[in-house]
Amino acid sequence: MVLLRAFLIFFLLINFSNANDLLSYEKQSKISIKELAVNLKKSLKGVLKESGPIAAVEYCNIAALDITSDVSNKNNIFIKRTSLKLRNKNNMPDRWEIDVLNNFEKRKKNGENVMSLSYQAVYKDNNKSFYRYMKAIPTGKVCLTCHGSNIDPKLASKLSELYPDDNAYNYKLGDIRGAFSVKIPLPN
Ligand code: HEC
Repeated sequence: MVLLRAFLIFFLLINFSNANDLLSYEKQSKISIKELAVNLKKSLKGVLKESGPIAAVEYCNIAALDITSDVSNKNNIFIKRTSLKLRNKNNMPDRWEIDVLNNFEKRKKNGENVMSLSYQAVYKDNNKSFYRYMKAIPTGKVCLTCHGSNIDPKLASKLSELYPDDNAYNYKLGDIRGAFSVKIPLPN
C-alpha cells in the first residue's frame, strides 16, 4: 500500500512541472467539494424540516443539479456527484469514475475510513490533460429516509414516479453512497 502510494505520487509528480500545482489543484477541489456539500445539505435540511421528505424529493430533483452547476461555474471547474447505484441518470459515472468508486469499495473493505477516502490522478482524454479528484460520500442517518431500505410507501412511490430506473436505495449507515468528482483542465 505504501509502495503503491509512493508510485502514484511519483507518477503524478512527473506529470507536473511543479509539485505545487498539484497541491493547489487538490486544495481547489477540496474547497469546491466542501462548498457543494454544505450548500446541498443546507437546502436539503431546510426543505425536509419545512415541508417533509416528499416535497424535498420534488425540490431535490431540480435544485441539486442547479446548486452543483452554480459551484462549477463559480469556481471554473467541473464538479458533480456520482455513484455506482444511481437515482438520477444525470449523475452517471464515466469509466474512470467507475474504477475509482470500485476502488473505494475495496479500500473500505480493507478497513479504510469512508470519511477520508479520496483519490487523485492526471487524466488524458484526446490529447487534453485534466486533474481529477474524487472524494467518497458516506451514508448518514438522515440519508436513509430516501436511500435506505425502509422507505415510506408514499415517498417510495414519488421516487419511482420521478426516477423509474432508481437504484439508489437499500443503503445502510456508513455505506459509500457515492462520491464527489472534480475535473480541472490543465494548461497544455
Ligand atoms: C428527501 C430525500 C433525500 C434525502 C434525505 C437524501 N437524498 Fe440523496 N438524492 C435524493 C434525490 C431525489 C436524488 C436525485 C436528484 C439529485 O440529487 O441529483 C438524490 C441523489 C443523490 C446523489 C447523487 C447520485 C444519484 O444517485 O443520483 C447522492 C450522492 C446522494 N443523493 C447522496 C445523499 C446523501 C449522502 C444523503 C444524506 C446526507 C442524501 N442523499 C439524502 C433524495 C434524497
